Amino acid sequence: MKKVLFVDTVHPYLWEELQKKGYSCVEGYDLSEKAIVEQHKDTYGLVIRSRISINANFLSHFNKLTFIARAGSGMENIDLDYAHSKNIHAINAAEGNKQAVAEHALGMILSLFNNLNNADGEVRKGIWQREKNRGIELSGKTIGIIGYGNNGSALAKVLSGFDTKVLAYDKYKTNYTPKYAIESDMQTIFKQADILSLHIPLTEETQHLVKDSFLKQFQKPIYLINTSRGACLDTKSLVTNLNSGKVLGACIDVLEYEKTSFENLSEQTTELKQLLQSDKVIFSPHIAGWTQESQLKIAQVLFQKIKSIEN
Ligand code: MLT
Repeated sequence: MKKVLFVDTVHPYLWEELQKKGYSCVEGYDLSEKAIVEQHKDTYGLVIRSRISINANFLSHFNKLTFIARAGSGMENIDLDYAHSKNIHAINAAEGNKQAVAEHALGMILSLFNNLNNADGEVRKGIWQREKNRGIELSGKTIGIIGYGNNGSALAKVLSGFDTKVLAYDKYKTNYTPKYAIESDMQTIFKQADILSLHIPLTEETQHLVKDSFLKQFQKPIYLINTSRGACLDTKSLVTNLNSGKVLGACIDVLEYEKTSFENLSEQTTELKQLLQSDKVIFSPHIAGWTQESQLKIAQVLFQKIKSIEN
């Protein structure tokens, strides 16, 4: 029987459907990397979220490994080149949480624009301030989306009812005629955008992509949304640009100080402390793709992809 080791928990759908197909599903939620290698060398499939790093050394111990199923979108914890060289399929489930990410990004920007977090806190304290909490509208704004894959295109779609102009830039796509956006380049985004939303994977190329020199190129002051990876944005630059007014506000679901498992923060730097004190920023703890529905959808997407590997 083909053994599939679940290193992280996912919706039970995946386990049940794989068992029905004849795989032998095994739980390894608490196993260390060392224990996985020692006890499960013979595994055929690995199901993971982000608890462990699937690097070349780790992968080199398995002799039957055929697939790594990542229950989520980002694949930065997997050495994809090495996996490929060993004919191991590395699959993700970005299609399963794209709607969650899009709705979360929209929810964050609407909260920020309408001062909902501040106003809620005030009303609870008996403070009733209308003028101070006057909002701004999304309608009429130009939104630059960097990265037009699953998440970027899902955000463009949810924005389509808001009378916005959506400019999409994807370094790896041309002539893709996006349905809910205008295919664009960075120069146009620098010139026109009021809001910038990141939907890019974390790679050497995108590490600290958004930094001081990048932000300086925007002609207008902007709002920033980051639901991709914390390290795509240089926090220090964000703080500087919030202070100067170049960045008017930010929606931050991911922080560069998260542990690789995304389960907690590793350090409290000066910049982070400054950022956490800013009322121009709203935060969430890396939950943009994390909805009741996405949990099941991720499992369904992975099951379909695993099935197609076998066909
Ligand atoms: C993702 O990559 O899908 C999201 O960041 C959520 C996660 O993996 O936990």
